[in-house]
Amino acid sequence: MLVSATEMLKKAKEGKYAVGQFNINNLEWTKSILLTAQELNSPVILGVSEGAGKYMTGFKTVAAMVKAMDEELGITVPVALHLDHGSYEGCYKCIKAGFTSIMFDGSHYPIEENIAKTSELVNVAHNLGLSIEAEVGSIGGEEDGVVGAGECADPDECKAIADLGVDMLAAGIGNIHGKYPDNWAGLSFETLAAVQEKTGIMPLVLHGGTGIPEDMIKKAISLGVSKINVNTECQLSFQEATRKYIEEGKDQQGKGFDPRKLLAPGADAIKATVKEKMELFGSVGKA
Ligand code: 13P
Repeated sequence: MLVSATEMLKKAKEGKYAVGQFNINNLEWTKSILLTAQELNSPVILGVSEGAGKYMTGFKTVAAMVKAMDEELGITVPVALHLDHGSYEGCYKCIKAGFTSIMFDGSHYPIEENIAKTSELVNVAHNLGLSIEAEVGSIGGEEDGVVGAGECADPDECKAIADLGVDMLAAGIGNIHGKYPDNWAGLSFETLAAVQEKTGIMPLVLHGGTGIPEDMIKKAISLGVSKINVNTECQLSFQEATRKYIEEGKDQQGKGFDPRKLLAPGADAIKATVKEKMELFGSVGKA
């Protein structure tokens, strides 16, 4: 059931668990994530970066595929189709294409401009029933061309953005897209606690979910994180399972070259990763 992310995140914040955002790249990704959410009776957010949207030939294709798949698979758990790290123009494209949720990443603008653009998009999104995420500080590393220095968010700036009425707020707390380096200092729980103190009931978003140790995930949830984004980890699971299939020569046995067979181990591996994360985040049975 395609919905905005507003209600599921409100419930997650109250219930002290987090809803997973899993980024999609193609049909196999989408199907694996939707089936796992349904099987576990968990709400879910499908994240689409601008790069992945372009790869799938555009946001209209993505929205049409997700809507049809949701229907054809008989998915009854709440599913939000969400733009990840959207530009100003990208947000308007996704609104038009039929997404149910958008993220406007204005973190690279001076705070006044981030506020002005976020404020405009909050009004537009809410008038049409979409939820909206904003960002303060930045997420380190790189994701589909979005690069961040990883600076921790200023809690007062977080409050200013939260007061605009966004539905969820991504605050940089030392998190990074992709794998964490060996010398990573860990999440800044001081920053997270200060942001939570200033923003109250606002569901906070933890980007860079790949590779964050379980104890840190649990602590982050206890400090107000209600949405956790995972992208790279599903890619790595898919890659590992696909590599194994080919290295074992299975693509050369019988009709093992059939794409439905060739991509099946990778799709199953995505399901396993999504299940593991939903269990860790506490969203199982919360649909
Ligand atoms: P990872 O690729 O590190 O899991 O980050 C995902 C993310 O934050 C999407 O915005």
